Amino acid sequence: MRPSVLATRATFPDIADRLRQYFDVTDNPSDTIWSPTELIERLQGKSGVMSTGSERIDAALLDACPELKAVCNVGVGYNNIDVAACTARGVVVTNTPDVLTETTADYGFGLMMATARRIAESDRFVRTGAWTKTGIHDHFVGGDIQGATLGILGMGRIGRGIARRGALGFGMRVIYHNRSKLDAAQEAEAGAQYVDKQTLLKEADHLVLVLPYSPAAHHTIGAAEIALMKPSATLTNIARGGIVDDAALAAALRAGTIAAAGLDVFEGEPKVHADLLAAPNTVLTAHIGSASVRTRRAMAALAIDNLIASLGYGPQAGAPLT
Ligand code: DGY
Repeated sequence: MRPSVLATRATFPDIADRLRQYFDVTDNPSDTIWSPTELIERLQGKSGVMSTGSERIDAALLDACPELKAVCNVGVGYNNIDVAACTARGVVVTNTPDVLTETTADYGFGLMMATARRIAESDRFVRTGAWTKTGIHDHFVGGDIQGATLGILGMGRIGRGIARRGALGFGMRVIYHNRSKLDAAQEAEAGAQYVDKQTLLKEADHLVLVLPYSPAAHHTIGAAEIALMKPSATLTNIARGGIVDDAALAAALRAGTIAAAGLDVFEGEPKVHADLLAAPNTVLTAHIGSASVRTRRAMAALAIDNLIASLGYGPQAGAPLT
């Protein structure tokens, strides 16, 4: 009998067809977000799941779905999965690193630029019809990119990609802080210099967050950290909601503690803090860092290869996390 698997979110039909060559597939063409109970119901009798960051895979779910053998997440981040609980039950967990690195680095750099140069704010202004004269001295003047100091918190593959863009493409001074310092060759390739966290916060003109979320990283950036930044600085978060204290950030933006924020991820998304929505000096996007057609297709294809391999039908495509 063919194993049964669940794809929790709508995906590219031609890529999903590959799954059907191996498994009986239940999918979600209407892209409904299921409650934990609905997810457990749909997982009954399933050997594998192609999951996304929208679903929480925890011990309670695993205990309610004893036939589950593989959790293959579409995304490099996997903070939605209790990996220890999976390991304890022999459930394989995989993610989709590498295929999204450059696309996400492009996005982080672009969001930082849009934030610094007030692109979205000016776009909103033009759309109101209020543009009656082209100003010079106080007309959406922002911060420079070229020659500025780019600070990166979290120096994995995406962080290094953003560093390269800043150093090589825009002549920026790039400083970073990370759990571990890169070796000399990696630092040279990224064009980046290691500093402590305080120095990073104090010296960055544009701070970009690219660290993975874990409970220990919760509110890594709160009121105290923002207070160390320059009043002219910008903060860009393409990592995960919860790394930034959104209420503290909104208060800091209102008070002028920093100049602006570009946010692609939020605490409790898709809900967004009302004060961030109301702030003129924010650029807010809907968790789209890896969302190019080529990359999202590559992520789906890799997750499917992982599922096929994890259930024993092909070579392992990426290193499993459990
Ligand atoms: C990732 O790859 O982790 C993205 O945030 C999509 O969830």
